[in-house]
Amino acid sequence: MISITEILKDFPIFETKIHGKRLVYLDNAATTQKPRQVIEAISQYYETRNANVHRGVHYLSEIASEDYEEAHNKVAKFLNAKGMEEIIFTRNTTESLNLLAYSLGLNELEKGDNIVLTRFEHHSNLVPWQQMARRQGAEIRFIEMTEDCRLDLASAEKAIDDKTKVVSITHMSNALGTIIPVKEVSKLAREHGAYMIVDGAQSAPHMPVDVRELDVDFFAFSGHKMLAPMGIGGLYGREDILEKMEPFLFGGDMISIVSFDNATWNRLPWKFEAGTPNVSGGIGLAVAIDYLGKIGFDKIHYIEHELTEYAHERLNELSFIKIYGPEPKYKGAVVSFAMDGIHPHDIASLLDEDGIAVRAGHHCAQPLMKMLGTDSTTRASMYFYNTKEDIDALVESLQKIYKLFS
Ligand code: ALA
Repeated sequence: MISITEILKDFPIFETKIHGKRLVYLDNAATTQKPRQVIEAISQYYETRNANVHRGVHYLSEIASEDYEEAHNKVAKFLNAKGMEEIIFTRNTTESLNLLAYSLGLNELEKGDNIVLTRFEHHSNLVPWQQMARRQGAEIRFIEMTEDCRLDLASAEKAIDDKTKVVSITHMSNALGTIIPVKEVSKLAREHGAYMIVDGAQSAPHMPVDVRELDVDFFAFSGHKMLAPMGIGGLYGREDILEKMEPFLFGGDMISIVSFDNATWNRLPWKFEAGTPNVSGGIGLAVAIDYLGKIGFDKIHYIEHELTEYAHERLNELSFIKIYGPEPKYKGAVVSFAMDGIHPHDIASLLDEDGIAVRAGHHCAQPLMKMLGTDSTTRASMYFYNTKEDIDALVESLQKIYKLFS
């Protein structure tokens, strides 16, 4: 089994000193670091195989097209989709969700319909639906949060009804870490014939995802939160639905036949990938998935759960810290907290002086923050390359900051 020392050697960024200190990277919910294997695959593509895809019959174009298609196959296996026709590459989760909001919203959403979200959504899975609901005269409803920051399934039964066209929910809250029981919600969506969409930005990097097991119609994710480069992400969509759906972006590559007054669409998944795609990103994503496979989600879960429990234990020792969100057993590797009398932005700046990277603010989830009675928190988010020493460094630095302020 690969050791943490070997893992860390794969991530060149950890050789970088931050203000002369060791980098303690606890901002993985924002983006993860990239292993050498991913970085090298991207350079190698540009050094040896760069060409546009699906256009030329020349050697390089054929190789680039094969690699790009193979990347779709890799994602299909990763999510247990039927095949690459169910995998659309996008820039990120936000673009995947906009694709759905526009395509389903403009063509299927009618006045009087409703869209069901949860109170945990970050802006990517809230704002596109708000806009579409306003435009089409639909209503937005929310599945509530319990007192201990978990999903209130009883309220899902009330929110979802026969006028529900879309249920679009996060799989894991980026701000609190709460894991959402997607399968239970999907059962309700099915009973009422609604489309079931999952925002998997925070789940795909940390847990095995089986879209058929979860019984969902769509699953959106970002590559950069799972070791891959920025600017590549994806959307799983059920083939029979994608076949019927209107494209979101129009232009080159997504067409079949074009005349001066009409056009027909390419086969799946290309119907939804207009223009020159991010080929190197796709290749990097495929290598990232291989890397995750080498570590294994069992090990990833074990490491992250241990770290989350340890972070709770250590932070709970500090009387001046308040943790937001559920107990570790109900969440992923995210710990959101506040410190008496000190603004999260000040905390994050002072942690940075010690080489510790965290996110402070509303975490692109302003309404959720408001529900929690605050406008911002400090968030430490872990990945499998973090260690207990990283948590100790965080705790030690927080103690120093508190002393400084009091
Ligand atoms: N949603 C990302 C985060 O939580 C940007 O930081």
